[in-house]
Amino acid sequence: MTDGKNFRVGIVGCGRMAGLHAEAYTLVPATQPLAAADIDPDKLDLFCEQWSIPQRYSSYEEMLAQADLDIVSVVTLDSLHGPATIAAAEAGARGILCEKPMAFDLEEADRMIAACDRAGAKLVIDHSMRFEKNFIEVKAMIERGDIGNLRTIRANLLSTDQRDPSSWHSQFATAGGGELMHNGTHLFDLIRFYAGDPEWVFATVERGNKAITIEDLSAGLFRMDSDSLFFFESGGRRRYGCFEILIEGDEGRLAIQHGARNALEQRGGWAWEPYLHRWRGRTEPVAWEPVATQRDNAVINVVADLVDCIENDRESISSGRQGRAALEMIMAVYESQRRGLARVDFPLAIQDNPFGDMLDRGQI
Ligand SMILES: NC(=O)c1ccc[n+]([C@@H]2O[C@H](COP(=O)([O-])OP(=O)(O)OC[C@H]3O[C@@H](n4cnc5c(N)ncnc54)[C@H](O)[C@@H]3O)[C@@H](O)[C@H]2O)c1
Repeated sequence: MTDGKNFRVGIVGCGRMAGLHAEAYTLVPATQPLAAADIDPDKLDLFCEQWSIPQRYSSYEEMLAQADLDIVSVVTLDSLHGPATIAAAEAGARGILCEKPMAFDLEEADRMIAACDRAGAKLVIDHSMRFEKNFIEVKAMIERGDIGNLRTIRANLLSTDQRDPSSWHSQFATAGGGELMHNGTHLFDLIRFYAGDPEWVFATVERGNKAITIEDLSAGLFRMDSDSLFFFESGGRRRYGCFEILIEGDEGRLAIQHGARNALEQRGGWAWEPYLHRWRGRTEPVAWEPVATQRDNAVINVVADLVDCIENDRESISSGRQGRAALEMIMAVYESQRRGLARVDFPLAIQDNPFGDMLDRGQI
C-alpha cells in the first residue's frame, strides 16, 4: 500500500454512524478503508462511493474471508456487534473497533474478549467520550482536586418515548435495551472514567410505551468505590433530549452539558463544555477557556488509539474489558428491577440480559 497507509480496513455496516468511521480511517495516516459490507445494496453503494472504498460486499462473512484486512470496524445494529467482532478476530484482524453498546449481555461480551485474546487482536469499544478533549479535561480537573474530594455525580440522560416501533433501536431483539443501552453505555463508561468502579446499585426500570420492547425510563443510585454516589435518570418520557452531568466535590462543582453556559436551552449545539464553580466562602464560577467549542469526530482519536495499541502491543483505555464494565453497570440496573428493586452488588454474578428475561416473563 502507498502513502504509509499500512493498515487495510473493512467496515461492517454502512449506515449513519459508519461515515464517522470512514472519515477517521481516511484521516488517520496509517489506515485506509478498502472494503465495506452491508446487506442493503443502496446504502453500500452510496457509502462506498462517498468514501471511495473499492471493495463492496453484501455479506460481512464474505468480506472477512476475501479482503485480507488488518482492522475491522463493526458499525451495525447492536445484535451483530458480538457475532461480527468474533468473526473478525477469527478471520485474523489485528484490530477491531466495535460500536457501543459492546454486546447484548455479559456472556457475549466475555466471548468477544476471549476470541480477541485468543487471536491476539486488539479490541476497542467506541466509547468515544473518553477521547473527547473536554471530557478528558474534566477528568484532569477532578484529579487535580479542582472540586475537592468527589462526593456526588448526577446525570440526566433524557429522551422521548415516542420512538418509531419499526426502527431496530425500538426492539429488544436488535437493540438489547433502550436508552440505557443506546447512550447509557456512554454515560456509565464516563462515570467509571471519573469515579472508578461501582460497588452496588438500586434501580427501577419501566416500559410505559408497549409498542416498543425496550425500556423508556430507568433511574437509580450507584455507590462508587471512590466513596461517591452516582444518581441517574435515563429516558424519562420527555419531548426533548438532554445529556448533562453535574459532578460535585466538597469544594466545588462541575457541570457538563451541550454548551453548559446555555444550560437548558442547549444553544451550544454539540459543544460539550464543562462549567466549573468553586466554593471560596461562596460558590462562584471559575473562568476557563473551553478546549473545543465544536464536537470533533472523536472516532479519529479512537482509531489513532487502536493503531497505537496494535503497533505497541498494549491494551486500549477503551478496551473490551472497559466496555464490558460499562455493560455490567447496565445489566445491574436491569437486574435490580428483575429482583424487585433490590440492591445489586458488583461484580455481577449473572451472565444473561435481565431485561430480555423480564420481557419473556411479562414482568415489564
Ligand atoms: N459511538 C457513538 O457515539 C454512536 C453514535 C451513533 C450510533 N452508534 C452505534 O453505531 C451502530 C450503528 O448505528 P447507526 O445509527 O449507524 O445505525 P443504522 O441503522 O443507520 O446503520 C446500521 C447499518 O447496518 C446494516 N446492517 C444490518 N444488518 C447487517 C449485516 N448482517 N451485515 C452488514 N450490515 C448490516 C444496515 O443495513 C445499516 O446500514 C449502533 O450500534 C449504534 O449504537 C454509536
